[in-house]
Amino acid sequence: MVGLAAIAPHDAAGGFEISHLLVAREARRRGLAGRLLAAAEASAPAARRFVLWCDTRADAAQRFFEKHSFLRDGPIRVDAGQTLAFGYAKPCAGIAVADLDAAAAASADRRLGDLLSATAAEDEAVPLASPTEVRRYWRGVSAEVAGGQRVLIAGWVDGVLAGAVQLDINTPPYQDHRAEVQHLLVLPAYRAGGLAEALMQAVEAVARRHGRRLLTLNAIAGGPAEALVRGLGWSEGGRIPGFSVTKRGVPCDALFFWKEV
Ligand SMILES: CC(C)(COP(=O)(O)OP(=O)(O)OC[C@H]1O[C@@H](n2cnc3c(N)ncnc32)[C@H](O)[C@@H]1OP(=O)(O)O)[C@@H](O)C(=O)NCCC(=O)NCCS
Repeated sequence: MVGLAAIAPHDAAGGFEISHLLVAREARRRGLAGRLLAAAEASAPAARRFVLWCDTRADAAQRFFEKHSFLRDGPIRVDAGQTLAFGYAKPCAGIAVADLDAAAAASADRRLGDLLSATAAEDEAVPLASPTEVRRYWRGVSAEVAGGQRVLIAGWVDGVLAGAVQLDINTPPYQDHRAEVQHLLVLPAYRAGGLAEALMQAVEAVARRHGRRLLTLNAIAGGPAEALVRGLGWSEGGRIPGFSVTKRGVPCDALFFWKEV
């Protein structure tokens, strides 16, 4: 035996705690922990949320859990022997969305980087960038979340972080009644399942919480987002020819939409 994982009920709201995930040194980096985690998760079909604690010094384990769609959650815990542990959590039942605090946003950068790269590989309109540029981009996003200038909402499908949307709330003085919805992304394999709609509904709710009554966004004319936002009751405000350029350098029109929330 070269590995193990444990899982136990954690709270009355369907939370299950994963613990003791361990793989012997000689058996690491072959996907074994991934299979153990999947088996642990599958053994709790009633779970609505998985939680775990991870030593603040255990970089490999943090990378591992972040790759598997867990995000930092709650304060650091002091364990026996004065070791410190980060809390991690992810929802796991169907579609779930959450707006991320700065710690969660910072821990999401690898997973969101994978999301952006996978989307860019499929979508003509999403620019391709190197892994370093992609990480720098998401670091900038989490810095703005920390600074209160931006809201980042993540979406999971059955425990897989598969989409995100942002709300730019860094508006000029006296314009804090409005905000711009930006960068709606859903992993190609998870499209047409309702995640984008759930993210857009969440962004409206978050906007209301921030006192933003008027939302704007732009979408490529004829692209998938156009049909989505029209279906969600957004009004078209106009078209700008050649506003966006695809990665092949082809100009395409953008439609501007607005919605009162
Ligand atoms: C964390 C641990 C369980 C991972 O086991 P594993 O079998 O090597 O993991 P897998 O092969 O399934 O997954 C590999 C992924 O984990 C992460 N990872 C694992 N080791 C890593 C390392 N040394 N550096 C960076 N990332 C690492 C990466 O995301 C990697 O994916 P990638 O190969 O695409 O980059 C193992 O390193 C371990 O037992 N560590 C000590 C115990 C521990 O910290 N457990 C967590 C409880 S808090």
